Amino acid sequence: MRVLVLTGAGVSAESGIPTFRGKDGYWRNLDPAKLATPEAFASDPKLVWEWYRERRQRIRNAQPNAAHEAIAKLATHAEEFLLVTQNVDDLHARSGIEKENMVQIHGDIFVTLCSRCHFSYRERDRESPEIPRCPECEALMRPGVVWFGEQLSRNELEPIENFLDGGVCDVVIVAGTTATFGYIIDWAIRASRGGGELIEVNPEETPLSQFAARLVREPAAIALPRIVDTIVNS
Ligand code: OAD
Repeated sequence: MRVLVLTGAGVSAESGIPTFRGKDGYWRNLDPAKLATPEAFASDPKLVWEWYRERRQRIRNAQPNAAHEAIAKLATHAEEFLLVTQNVDDLHARSGIEKENMVQIHGDIFVTLCSRCHFSYRERDRESPEIPRCPECEALMRPGVVWFGEQLSRNELEPIENFLDGGVCDVVIVAGTTATFGYIIDWAIRASRGGGELIEVNPEETPLSQFAARLVREPAAIALPRIVDTIVNS
């Protein structure tokens, strides 16, 4: 069986990580969709770092939930499997998905990256002081994530293209994302074209809903264990 899973912030919501949109996503009355931008960093890097440090800490303290675990179970069951996540947290990885079966298209929140020379390091267990400076070129360091208006990295796109070129999927699951980025919809349609079942798991309607064969309007941690058990036992 060949399976593609695409996830967004909704999958980590039940681990206590706020999603980007909706009132729960607001931080100190600020809209994350405006904070996660190169413009916000240019005008107030301290504020942007404060927000990311809080999110990092929340993620360190969080645990994978039943949705992450169900996806990891599906990964072991399928002959060919790829998870493409927009989430920058490490909850999928901590649920046991192998590195080669997963792509974090929006980066890794624990990476600190030079805004000029691209020197980077990972800070999983400890934080730099206030606003980190690059040890190589002295420029400001930034979180190593993809911000609104920035390009996806080629390194991340390549395994996705390879997987999509490898054939139609039997099942495509899109869970916990507003699917505002066109590439999420494109990949889901491409992977299921020609017979694969496209399943959306999201309590709310999204731009992807019209293309899905099955709409599961429930929280991911409730719906995914059931969906995965049905697939694994069929
Ligand atoms: P959003 O915050 O836009 O959307 C979260 C989605 O999850 C919404 O569609 C909710 O209806 C749904 N949702 C909420 N709780 C859920 C639950 N318990 N189970 C299932 N679904 C639930 O997050 P994304 O779509 O991931 O990008 O956002 C995409 C990107 O926008 C993020 O990766 C980030 C953000 O800005 C960048 O930083 C570039």
